[in-house]
Amino acid sequence: MNLHSIPPTRCESSSLHRTRTTLRARRSTDQLAPQQLIWPLFVQEGVGQVTPIASMPGCARVSIDQAIEQVAEASRAGLAGIALFPVVPNHLKDPRGQESRNRDGLMARAIRALKAAAPDLLILSDVALDPYSSDGHDGVVIDGKIDNDATLPLLAEMAVVQAQAGADLVAPSDMMDGRIGVIREALDAAGYSQVGICSYAVKYASAFYGPFREALESAPRVGDKRTYQMDPANHREALKEIRLDEDEGADWLMVKPGLPYLDIVSLVRGHSTLPVAVYHVSGEYAMLKAAAAIGMFSYEEALLESLSAMHRAGADLIVTYGALDAGRLLASRLPVSDSPR
Ligand code: PBG
Repeated sequence: MNLHSIPPTRCESSSLHRTRTTLRARRSTDQLAPQQLIWPLFVQEGVGQVTPIASMPGCARVSIDQAIEQVAEASRAGLAGIALFPVVPNHLKDPRGQESRNRDGLMARAIRALKAAAPDLLILSDVALDPYSSDGHDGVVIDGKIDNDATLPLLAEMAVVQAQAGADLVAPSDMMDGRIGVIREALDAAGYSQVGICSYAVKYASAFYGPFREALESAPRVGDKRTYQMDPANHREALKEIRLDEDEGADWLMVKPGLPYLDIVSLVRGHSTLPVAVYHVSGEYAMLKAAAAIGMFSYEEALLESLSAMHRAGADLIVTYGALDAGRLLASRLPVSDSPR
């Protein structure tokens, strides 16, 4: 048969049309689900505290009692877990971020309380010095430079404190070289071999982190983070970073930010068998909210579309400030049953 005798446009377009309409629900097994979403929470000291974050409408820094209510919501919505970040009071910040290793500090207390309140949710605890550092850097600053190797034991100790408090996965977001290996060793030596490591393996030096730094008041006092975070123009370096982190014992690999880096998500997915997470970061969330606020589009639609794109690119897990919103939306839009009757 001469294939050209069949008008290809007509044939294909009707098939595509059927896939988009009648068969849509049949393909739904590969759609995004609440169980793939992780919700970042900012905890602060106090009781009954809810301090909205101006650039991130809908997000707030909350005291532990309020965070307990948030995790109850997260659990009801069927989310995978939470990513926890502490808002450390300025008087507790110092150049070595000593507060990060305090077994009774805000972070450790929050992990304990939230794990008890919602044991089914995974707790990812942030490992990096910036929330605790008077320099606002992820590593120790010595003579105006980030000292990679001097930072490693501090990160390892911080990870052990968080594991002891009940974290399921420690999540090093600091980008120091060699940290996955030292953290793995320290966790194992302290008896926490069941605690995983979600490595921020591929983290770019990005303008999209602005609102997060406002939330934690953690912007670098001097300089920027380009000596340890990656160059947005570089994609080969991503493969090098994931190799190293895999060899050192990472359990999950994270790519960050999200939407502007979907090619990297896809690249990492294709080069690793580990679960791949992507971080839809503060600036991306803030853009959606800002655009929706001036009537450019629906926040809900744009959020779900963004998250579906990350899922399509190969992300198994998505960290997003819109996790609760998306989880609820997805649950309310569950497709009709796949089973034929
Ligand atoms: C720092 C850290 C950052 C984020 C998570 N951990 C910002 C930075 O690197 O300065 C950003 C998350 C976001 O923007 O939502 N350890």
